[in-house]
Amino acid sequence: MGVLMINKSIVKKNILIILFMVIVWSCSSKTVADSTDELDITKAHYILSKMTIDDKVGQMTQVARDYLESYEDIKTYRLGSILSGGGSAPPNNSVKGWREMTSKMQDYALSTPLGIPLLYGSDAVHGHGNLRNAVIFPHHIGLGAANNEKLVEEIAKITALECAATGVNWNFNPCITVPQDIRWGRTYEGFSSNPEIVSRLGVAEVKGLQYNWNSNISVLACLKHFVADGGTNKGIDRGNSIISDKELEEIHLYPYYEGIKANAGSVMASFSKINSVPMHQNESLLTGRLKNDMNFQGLLVSDWAALTLLPGSSKDQIAAAINAGIDMVMVPDKYKEFINNLKELVKEGRIPEKRINDAVLRILTTKIKMGLFENPKADPELESLVGSDSSREVAREAVAQSLVILKNDKVLPMYVGQRVLIVGEFANDLGAQCGGWTTTWQGKLGNNNNTGVTILKAVNEALGKQNVVYLKDSRMLNKTDLSEFDLIIYVTGEEPYAEMNGDNPYPSLSRVDMKIIDTLDKSGKKTLLLLISGRPLLLDGAEEKVDAIVASWLPGTEAMGITDVLMGWKEAKGRLPYSWPADSKGFVQGLTSDKYLYPIGYGLSL
Ligand code: BGC
Repeated sequence: MGVLMINKSIVKKNILIILFMVIVWSCSSKTVADSTDELDITKAHYILSKMTIDDKVGQMTQVARDYLESYEDIKTYRLGSILSGGGSAPPNNSVKGWREMTSKMQDYALSTPLGIPLLYGSDAVHGHGNLRNAVIFPHHIGLGAANNEKLVEEIAKITALECAATGVNWNFNPCITVPQDIRWGRTYEGFSSNPEIVSRLGVAEVKGLQYNWNSNISVLACLKHFVADGGTNKGIDRGNSIISDKELEEIHLYPYYEGIKANAGSVMASFSKINSVPMHQNESLLTGRLKNDMNFQGLLVSDWAALTLLPGSSKDQIAAAINAGIDMVMVPDKYKEFINNLKELVKEGRIPEKRINDAVLRILTTKIKMGLFENPKADPELESLVGSDSSREVAREAVAQSLVILKNDKVLPMYVGQRVLIVGEFANDLGAQCGGWTTTWQGKLGNNNNTGVTILKAVNEALGKQNVVYLKDSRMLNKTDLSEFDLIIYVTGEEPYAEMNGDNPYPSLSRVDMKIIDTLDKSGKKTLLLLISGRPLLLDGAEEKVDAIVASWLPGTEAMGITDVLMGWKEAKGRLPYSWPADSKGFVQGLTSDKYLYPIGYGLSL
């Protein structure tokens, strides 16, 4: 008995030694990250082995909350993801309202046999735009002008926090498009027409968004739209990019290499076509390039109802997209039909089960890596941090850094004691400042019950209200006595827009603008044209008629950043992220610089 006991303990000891040696060996030959990755993959394989075809197909289905017939369907159909499209929010559009909605949805997902949590997606492309009173940062075009990676990373961290507080754990951002034609309505979603800038800032945004994985702020980033969405002919949204391999490689694919190296966990396919082939069925780019050559291990999601734009029947469309490499489909509406079709396609052998397993593994691994199983729901503790003063300070700083001074003939800096007339309805409109993807899909004029500082308010604060007169209706300018003013600021630009509606064959100042600028010219006063726009606008000679021109892009909710620079309190650091056309030929980017009034990189200091 005693001998036996000794033998047992020796065996035990030996096993421990062997185990120890294995651990030492694995630690020396692999990084901790490698071993964690392997564990995650093993866990994903284990879950997959327990899944029925219904479970699998459900995971591959993303439904828009507006089309979800009942929360029970999350359980019945084993849905993998829900999204809020542009403007979609719970009736109680507050952090609490969101949290309650997303928590309830997670409860249904967690009550399925395998308890797989949901990914909840939204387009927080400049802050959590669907949430009332969120901090809204400058759109990417402004951040491209600021060209500051640290700042972008900080913004992304705040955005992740505000998303997480509402239960949104998937942000369809960064948009790393590289727009080559400013007629495109999504130009402002791109940091720049220069792929190097897009790439650096895109990486910073991925890092910031995914910074807190495995905590109560686990948010998945999404590189979009793969690929060459910004290369379409004449800048037509969802159009055809007729491009050479070299352009594809050096302009449009370039930021993806970097974004994927930075571990971006998901990618969204583009509505557009490349050389007439729709991206959603482009196997050689989706699977060949993205997944194989670039070694993208994350999940590839379709764009909103993008499959329905492919040729053939619904089933043909689904087969083409999934076989090309799409892992999850943003259906977003007729999900029961989609699920049925997908199951039939597998049964008929038109989609190999191997492809389905690969898609589901990618979805599961992503959810596991983020720590979603441990933190599926929004943590109520985060609520008090949303819209905080310190976050608004970061936004204000971003606005200051994004401002580009295009002309300054002894107007700037402004000074305390100066008498200013500020003209135009955009001067007092948060909706105009924020642009698309804010409160609604396309964005809209008005304050929309959001919190923020308008340009008028910022100027009032900077100069003292008693020194500022506001003329909302700019058409009244020629009936106004201007003698008492030292400076007239005209605020104008583009009304909010987003994808599709934002395409404009001739982005320029309007006729009304030109009339007002003529009046300014004749006034003999110092004049400043302050532009709010999602892209450069043709000035059609206005540049000769005013004394100063400042591009503020779509600055978001914190306009004090504008006055910080106009008053000379902060350095004027912003530089053009796109070339500013001299005439319509210059809408296209990357031409010789004589086509442009101000080339990319231009911007005055004070
Ligand atoms: C846009 C995407 C967006 C999606 C979900 C689509 O129309 O192209 O950028 O992420 O909607 O809102």
